[in-house]
Amino acid sequence: MTDSGKQKHDGTTHFGYRDVPENEKEGLVAGVFHSVASSYDVMNDLMSMGVHRLWKRFTIELSAVRPGHAVLDIAGGTGDLAKQFSRIVGDGGRVVLADINESMLRVGRDRLIDQGIVGNMEFVQANAECLPFPDNTFDCITISFGLRNVTDKDAALRSMCRVLKPGGRLLVLEFSKTNNPLLTKAYDAYSFSLLPMMGKLVAGDSESYQYLAESIRMHPDQETLEGMMKEAGFVNTTYHNMTGGIVALHKGVKP
Ligand SMILES: C[S@@+](CC[C@H](N)C(=O)[O-])C[C@H]1O[C@@H](n2cnc3c(N)ncnc32)[C@H](O)[C@@H]1O
Repeated sequence: MTDSGKQKHDGTTHFGYRDVPENEKEGLVAGVFHSVASSYDVMNDLMSMGVHRLWKRFTIELSAVRPGHAVLDIAGGTGDLAKQFSRIVGDGGRVVLADINESMLRVGRDRLIDQGIVGNMEFVQANAECLPFPDNTFDCITISFGLRNVTDKDAALRSMCRVLKPGGRLLVLEFSKTNNPLLTKAYDAYSFSLLPMMGKLVAGDSESYQYLAESIRMHPDQETLEGMMKEAGFVNTTYHNMTGGIVALHKGVKP
């Protein structure tokens, strides 16, 4: 990606602040999520002081998912969104929780099975860049705090567009850019000192949380991501800033 956060297409990409060959990023990201999988849910609540639940609730509201729908939650990790979608689509619907990382997927699958959420659920190990589903399969696709970690984001957006049904919605929930200088200062201080410290104390891993802070700063800003969605084929694109732009929810529709 460039400074604007767009894809670089020169054979290299960012892993946090480091420039790495594109073919190495996937393995580096895998290392992060293998390491944090077992403490992921606790850390999410701690780091966001529970606010990630509100961001995800808004995502569910904007999805317009209804009983009988087919939904893909890609990079779904421990299944926060998939769990809610499973309840909404009901017995006549279908929810696929997909993730590239087997540790995250295992934690998500075990958690949902323990909570009795199984009937309409499928668990698939898949890379967002090349989704293993036929064209026009899903009414809705969500990718929540996942796109930032994908090596080729343009390929992932095109792949998501392909497997959506015409009229289907993509929702991208992701960290984004604040436009308030005071908030940005406080957020930077929090991200680069407190986050790695919390990661060390709770997950025994400060480096993964340093990567988290860096990867957020390198992610495309709101306008750039909206442009990338349009280029990938989406129409009626919009975004909503939440918590002062710390997080943005982008929406796009497959024509
Ligand atoms: C920060 S977690 C988000 C989990 C969950 N969606 C949530 O909001 O809590 C990011 C997830 O993206 C997954 N991921 C990273 N690269 C991916 C890719 N290329 N394809 C699919 N999943 C990917 C990781 O394995 C990890 O589970």
